[in-house]
Amino acid sequence: MRFESARQRSAHVIVLGNEKGGSGKSTTAMHLIVALLKAGHKVASVDTDSRQRSLTRYIENRARWARTRNLDLEMPEHFVARLAAGETVREIEAQEFATYADIVDRVENDFDYVVVDTPANDSYLMRLSHALADTLVTPVNDSFVDLDIFGEVDPDNLAITRMSHYADLVQTARQQRREVDGVTMDWIVVRNRISMLASRNQQNLLAVLKRLAPTLGFRLGDGISERVVFREFFPNGLTALDALDIKTHGSEPSMSHVSARNEIRDLAALLSLPEPKRRDPMFTAPGAKARPARLLELVTE
Ligand SMILES: Nc1ncnc2c1ncn2[C@@H]1O[C@H](COP(=O)(O)OP(=O)(O)O)[C@@H](O)[C@H]1O
Ligand SMILES: [Mg+2]
Repeated sequence: MRFESARQRSAHVIVLGNEKGGSGKSTTAMHLIVALLKAGHKVASVDTDSRQRSLTRYIENRARWARTRNLDLEMPEHFVARLAAGETVREIEAQEFATYADIVDRVENDFDYVVVDTPANDSYLMRLSHALADTLVTPVNDSFVDLDIFGEVDPDNLAITRMSHYADLVQTARQQRREVDGVTMDWIVVRNRISMLASRNQQNLLAVLKRLAPTLGFRLGDGISERVVFREFFPNGLTALDALDIKTHGSEPSMSHVSARNEIRDLAALLSLPEPKRRDPMFTAPGAKARPARLLELVTE
């Protein structure tokens, strides 16, 4: 791999990964992007899920909402890594690698943080993304059905009996990173869509995750609740971190916004991201005005 060692590049790479769809990768990606922008950092976003393009559409919706409502919404510089077409796997992977390398070239020294959203299936771009991660965030639905991305759970004693394909994939990516540049990827698992009604099942799930954490080497976040607002944000490209006013939302925001915001802030704090390496006071000062977006220049198909 010819990507620069993490020691040389300025950008810290945060990857959202989970082999299951609907676990909240794209939603969490967007929230982390906006959290970092609001802290005054220069942020690039990369969508490697070019079938769903959820993050891309989320960002496009934000741009449109800002334009039509005349709002000053912070925007990342956004890139889409497209799936390649070709005769052989080798050909396809070579093309996808070239696209990815081009994106990495453009972002690795000009940004403080790069947030990468990945698809819910094992693909070449998904594996490349995991191998690049300085921080990997894995949202999991708060359900035993979704725990099988880590392994098989014995229903009698809740022990893990077999590691899963995804857990292996992360371990491999981690090992590669250590060998290439001595960096240990920080892996954070966060339960998503937690039901407000506490249940025995929830407690059991939490117990299994706590037991898995030291074995697989991840840190466990407090989690994000199931809230209708998360679904309502998407069409306007808004997040729980945007201004809580009628001008921004078009309607009165609710208490649920505030609670969602607190959960996202807790997650962002838990990541303990390193201070930006780039020496550019305009962007590193907290609260610095977001620069105008050179928006979506690579997005148009
Ligand atoms: N905490 C949450 N509460 C309610 N709905 C959520 C929450 N997180 C995600 N969703 C919704 O779940 C669906 C899947 O989320 P998404 O972020 O697209 O997952 P993924 O990228 O992993 O496939 C979307 O409709 C999204 O709005
Ligand atoms: Mg997604």
